[in-house]
Amino acid sequence: MTGQKIDGIAVANSVKDRVRAAATELKKEGIEPCLATVLVGDNQASASYVTSKQKDCADVGIATKDHRLPQSFSQKELDSLIDLLNNDKTVHGILVQLPLPDHLDEFSIISRISPIKDVDGLTPYNMGLLASGKAILKPCTPSGIMELFDYYDIDLSGKDVVIINRSNLVGKPLYHLMLEKNATVTTCHSKTKDLKSHCLEADIIISAVGDRSKFTLTDNMVKDGAVVIDVGTSRLDGKLAGDVDYDNVIKKASYATPVPGGVGPMTRAMLLKNTITAASISKGIVTNR
Ligand SMILES: NC(=O)c1ccc[n+]([C@@H]2O[C@H](COP(=O)([O-])OP(=O)(O)OC[C@H]3O[C@@H](n4cnc5c(N)ncnc54)[C@H](OP(=O)(O)O)[C@@H]3O)[C@@H](O)[C@H]2O)c1
Repeated sequence: MTGQKIDGIAVANSVKDRVRAAATELKKEGIEPCLATVLVGDNQASASYVTSKQKDCADVGIATKDHRLPQSFSQKELDSLIDLLNNDKTVHGILVQLPLPDHLDEFSIISRISPIKDVDGLTPYNMGLLASGKAILKPCTPSGIMELFDYYDIDLSGKDVVIINRSNLVGKPLYHLMLEKNATVTTCHSKTKDLKSHCLEADIIISAVGDRSKFTLTDNMVKDGAVVIDVGTSRLDGKLAGDVDYDNVIKKASYATPVPGGVGPMTRAMLLKNTITAASISKGIVTNR
């Protein structure tokens, strides 16, 4: 049996079509959806991520305000910028590109973002709502994965799910989102004993380690018919790769995401969706949960 490739590019495009239509509707109401991006320092990878996000916004009719700040930018200066953006009625979403330089307190900066402009869904307030099943703005990668399950009609109810990651960005929010859908969720990490035996029990495996020198999800860790979602971004033989040995795992799985072309495009699309949601919230239009 060979499983079906989950096409993240196609699903992301369908999300973007909906976002484009919503942006047009908002403009008719006099609202120009706008995302402010904040980049501190000269990390090349971060700079190119921000540029890509801005291009994505332009593609769907979302305006952007670009804040590129020197490495020496202080905590106080960044706090003031966040306050300014929080109070700017023309800005609906605030994206602070992570990681921040070491001298800046990431948690404190994220916590300062107004929850209604928190398009990454990472403020403690929004994380709390997520844990209560009430979040509107949800972290982009986990909600993008949930969108993939929806699109491919993969039912989570009663399924045994293993998430290999416990970060605030991926594993913890995903845990709550999957629990909401009635899955039985096990969170694994670097200290988990016998990861393989957990994986072999799982109907669905979501892997987000991101270091092929430490970890590869191989076909002998996957039970027949499992769904495998690869979040990891790593390098293998000089090329972008995920955590999963895709070519062999897809022969056992029912569905699997490739890297590239799986979760990555979904993360980018969900940022656009969140920005539209934030723009709608600003006018009291959206109350959906
Ligand atoms: N495609 C996308 O859109 C997207 C979005 C977000 C993140 N990512 C990628 O996803 C990966 C994870 O991101 P992150 O920010 O969550 O990174 P992170 O905070 O470094 O998390 C990595 C996780 O992997 C666990 N881990 C490390 N080695 C392991 C091992 N040998 N066995 C089992 N678990 C192990 C870690 O466990 P401990 O907690 O015990 O250290 C941790 O929970 C990265 O490659 C990142 O680039 C991709």
